[in-house]
Amino acid sequence: MKYEEWLGNKDLEYKDDVLYFDNMNTIDIANEYGTPIYVTNEQRLRVQYRKIKNMLDMEYKNNSVHFAVKSNSNLSIIKILNSEGAEFDCSSTGEVYACFKAGVKPSQIIYTGNMFTDKDFEFAVENDVLVNLDSISQLKRLSKAYKDLEKEKGVLSFRINPEFGAGHHSHTITAGKQLKFGILDTQVIEAYSKAKDLGFDRFGIHQHIGSGILNPWDFEKAAEKYLSIVKELTNKLNIKLEFVDFGGGLGIPYRPDEDPLDLSIYRDVIIKKFKELVQNEDIGEPKLIIEPGRYITAESTIILTQINTIKNNTYKMFAGVNAGFNTLIRPTMYGSYHHIISCKINTNDKKLTYDITGPICESGDVLGKERTLPELREGDILAVLDAGAYGFTMSSVYNSRPRPAEILINNGKSYVMRKAEQYDHLMDLQLIPDHLK
Ligand SMILES: Cc1ncc(COP(=O)(O)O)c(C=O)c1O
Repeated sequence: MKYEEWLGNKDLEYKDDVLYFDNMNTIDIANEYGTPIYVTNEQRLRVQYRKIKNMLDMEYKNNSVHFAVKSNSNLSIIKILNSEGAEFDCSSTGEVYACFKAGVKPSQIIYTGNMFTDKDFEFAVENDVLVNLDSISQLKRLSKAYKDLEKEKGVLSFRINPEFGAGHHSHTITAGKQLKFGILDTQVIEAYSKAKDLGFDRFGIHQHIGSGILNPWDFEKAAEKYLSIVKELTNKLNIKLEFVDFGGGLGIPYRPDEDPLDLSIYRDVIIKKFKELVQNEDIGEPKLIIEPGRYITAESTIILTQINTIKNNTYKMFAGVNAGFNTLIRPTMYGSYHHIISCKINTNDKKLTYDITGPICESGDVLGKERTLPELREGDILAVLDAGAYGFTMSSVYNSRPRPAEILINNGKSYVMRKAEQYDHLMDLQLIPDHLK
């Protein structure tokens, strides 16, 4: 794929050497709102959601796309996706709370926590949210929460660990015997039998094998094993599952030499195989659920950041910017690649190689290593691409640097969807003991 096409797939293009994002001049945005700043393109979110939803609709009507809120929990993002018909995957009660704040109904949420506390269960049961358990030991406590709150038991599911995991980094692989997630195939019958004994009578099932999977064949082995578990469970315990959830994990092309995920292969290894099972076995017609986060949000967002310092230490060149691993931790945490480009290209035709580093007082604060770019100058604005997933949600205030604002752009207009934090936001919850006053 040509570089211009790769950029174009992310709604980025250069006009007269200036970078436009969804037809908006990135320099103008930086001048209006300051830097660093997260800029999210509403239409790209909608397009990504529709791509995946249409793919499901064409193959199997009874389906839903549960957006993984952990990838981006801004209320406007949740609202946009809710308006498209998305449902939601939450990994904490805080994410459930954010969904409620954005107007999502409890029936649209699956709460897949891990290491649940009694408080988590109380919150979920009180608010009629479906809980997806990840340990047999949690059953009794969930059952007690229903009893204590005098609520009728809702649909229950277990997260299955099919052991074949995949992901862009070992920390994002979530299936395998050594990992903390879900229950193994050998525990499935016991888990659902115990649930039946405790009076649960409506069930679903769930798996999520990892995050950032760009090779769709990586889903195949896990899907096969998962479907054999679904078959065994429904046959042995005579359970009709209300849903079968395949989790998220769909990757995006962060590097210019990467192509987008081939959705037709994803469809063949997951959706078609599931459909065959429904057609050939007496398992009813469960709802098919998937839970993409990154695929929907990553390419919707860029970070604009300004170069403060160009340093030549005689050994190498550094471009020091005002966004660091406090703003975007993925490069430091996972060694992830984010493409970084100039918002206005210097036309002197000189190209140089830089480490793009943030202002955090740690050597690991590098957003991009050894990037060759048209010569950079202090004051220039750079765009860090594909920052919409696990970007703002994983940001921090390390070094007492308040988080930047988040801007939404849509049809040539821009809106603040989260104000920039100020110093006082960092101090607001602190209390000084009397003897220190
Ligand atoms: C249970 C569950 N579902 C969905 C996702 C979303 O993953 P991704 O953003 O890779 O689609 C995650 C991410 O870790 C997850 O843990």
